Amino acid sequence: QIQSKEDVFDAYVAHGGRVEASHWMPDAYRKTLIRQVSQHAHSEIVGMLPEANWLISAPSLERKQILIAKVQDEAGHGLYLYSVAETLGAKRKDLTDALIDGRAKYSSVFNYPSLTWADVGTIGWLVDGAAILNQVTLCETSYGPYARAMIRICREESFHQRQGFEALYRMFAEGTDAQRSMIQDSINRWWAPSLMMFGPPDTDSNNSAQSMKWGIKIKTNDTLRQEFVNTIAKQSRIIGVTIPDPSLKWCPVSGNYVFTQPDWEEFYEVIGGRGMCNQDRLENIRRARDDNEWVMDAAEKYEAQQGNYAAG
Ligand code: 3HC
Repeated sequence: QIQSKEDVFDAYVAHGGRVEASHWMPDAYRKTLIRQVSQHAHSEIVGMLPEANWLISAPSLERKQILIAKVQDEAGHGLYLYSVAETLGAKRKDLTDALIDGRAKYSSVFNYPSLTWADVGTIGWLVDGAAILNQVTLCETSYGPYARAMIRICREESFHQRQGFEALYRMFAEGTDAQRSMIQDSINRWWAPSLMMFGPPDTDSNNSAQSMKWGIKIKTNDTLRQEFVNTIAKQSRIIGVTIPDPSLKWCPVSGNYVFTQPDWEEFYEVIGGRGMCNQDRLENIRRARDDNEWVMDAAEKYEAQQGNYAAG
């Protein structure tokens, strides 16, 4: 019998078909992609803030250069991803307004304060390490522009993770006892928020089933979280730090590390806008939008003139 357009689309993506901006797509597919891609972009932009604080206090010119390069990369990642959202018909101004009004989310992890220089290394090692595990899978996501943006983002993300690991490794090996305890304190504070980056447990993930069916999500939240724990547990021994989870233990039967789930109550508080830094982060973004409104106005006027010009 005649198949509906939705059935044909579902079969196409189920067989690994890549969807392009010019293709027909179900409204719900477009809507959930604008949701995920715009929140991913917001995460990149807000993600610059915890580290930006340390640009003027980096301990050496080399570390300052690395951090400047990383923060610039994050801005570029945000730009790529807002551009992906625009291929789906979203308007950047609407996306930014939704972020500032609290109608759109960004990664919970950026609502925690970066209190010491060790945090810059830990953010690279844990936060960018978690981000890259998730983002590598998105290189295979069914929406073409998103998948292609991810390829370049992942190349830069691996630099972010490596520089964080290397900063901690050197500081632990060459530093003083006080620096070593600063690193351990940093890991104690960022471990649970990094586990939360992968999203709630699969049982509470209301988008996963459909996103997996449409090939938007390739691996579930719990699968990626487990991969992250397995990776970091091994790397922590190379640096010489302790993962703050007494029940962390290798299970030869499952081939995974057993670990303690983060406090999901805290997670829902943070994504509900009641984390330590939510207000501060959004105030930052609002100020940037308002201070630079004249640039957006000029760009819009230019675009309109170009449009008129082209129309002759
Ligand atoms: N922070 C904030 N909100 C989160 C979250 C987190 N860590 N994890 C999940 N959520 C939200 C979801 O957005 C969803 O709410 P919504 O329906 O209003 O959007 C709700 O919690 C339930 O979660 P689901 O599992 O149902 O949602 P998803 O299927 O969308 O899965 C995700 C969540 C795994 C984050 C997925 O959206 C995804 O893969 N996004 C793309 C990657 C991304 O955004 N990474 C964020 C970090 S980027 C980064 O750190 C870059 C670094 O270099 C700065």
